[in-house]
Amino acid sequence: MMSELHINLSESLKSKPASDALGFGKYFSDHMFIMDYSSEDGWHDARIIPYGPISLDPSAMVLHYGQEVFEGMKAYRTPLGEIAMFRPDMNLKRLNNSCERISIPQVDTEFVLEAIAQLVRIDQEWIPDGEENALYIRPFIIATEAALGVRASKQYMLMVILSPVGAYYPEGIHPVSIYVEEQYVRAVRGGTGEAKTSGNYASGIKAQEIAKTKGFSQVLWLDGKQHKYIEEVGSMNVFFKVNGEILTPALTGSILQGVTRDSVITLLREWGYTVVERVISIEELFEASRQGLLEEAFGTGTAAVISPIGSLSWGDKNTEISGGVTGELSQRLYDSITGIQRGKLADPFNWVYTV
Ligand code: COI
Repeated sequence: MMSELHINLSESLKSKPASDALGFGKYFSDHMFIMDYSSEDGWHDARIIPYGPISLDPSAMVLHYGQEVFEGMKAYRTPLGEIAMFRPDMNLKRLNNSCERISIPQVDTEFVLEAIAQLVRIDQEWIPDGEENALYIRPFIIATEAALGVRASKQYMLMVILSPVGAYYPEGIHPVSIYVEEQYVRAVRGGTGEAKTSGNYASGIKAQEIAKTKGFSQVLWLDGKQHKYIEEVGSMNVFFKVNGEILTPALTGSILQGVTRDSVITLLREWGYTVVERVISIEELFEASRQGLLEEAFGTGTAAVISPIGSLSWGDKNTEISGGVTGELSQRLYDSITGIQRGKLADPFNWVYTV
């Protein structure tokens, strides 16, 4: 593969947003990483250049059939002044898994990680201050060949852009209200639910909008076949504490293999909890709640880290969880994971990658 990375620095740096009003994904740093792929030359022309619009042919295949994959990671400034990333090897492995599913050529993950590290070093002034803030890293690959036939593109572009972000949900670590979605589904087995590809997110927007108009923050996704079994919450993996045990849906092919999900399972087992990955029906969950056994529920993802669920609404049934306040375990997981990510706590599993 390739080994050269060209760097062309911007001559006019942008002013940075105030760190107390970042929101999520609204501002972008001064530079970006790009490399191209063609079936003749493979991945080539790796370059860091000033951030700005790109030119695409209107017939670029990504614009028509959505052949695209993406990832999300974060960089932090540690108390020692170093720059830390969290388990980037897992994200890049998943990028290649997503590529595989959408027939996009594999990337050299070590090279891409080094390019990302270089980009973050160049734009390190964009790592925002503040407890909940981080520099969000968005790698993505698009099909760029100019053609309208439905088939795999012969040309692609990999890009990495950086965005200083705050909490993903305005609620932050405060509990959100969730609507159990029975009509629309996010994914089916054999589909693309396990891949991080744009179509999965586009198809979820409608249900999210409807839930919002009904006064809920997000939807709980059920399986695509029977609409009975729990899959994900919003764009996150989901966990439940039932009678002291931790339950999370098993990875059966339609659920994203979350990096935060894996980290949460590892920490919980280390702390002595029993974590069971299995099929969980919504009916069973409401029954546990009726018996007073549903102790906590929370979503996990890179963007929000831990997002506690304060209530679930399923048809005409409603249930409040942990009295609508942040549960003890949700808070402990949030503090532990963000503490490790930010270099404030010990890193017993070697998750932190120093840039
Ligand atoms: C995450 O939780 O990191 C996500 O996948 C959300 C992202 C699409 C903004």
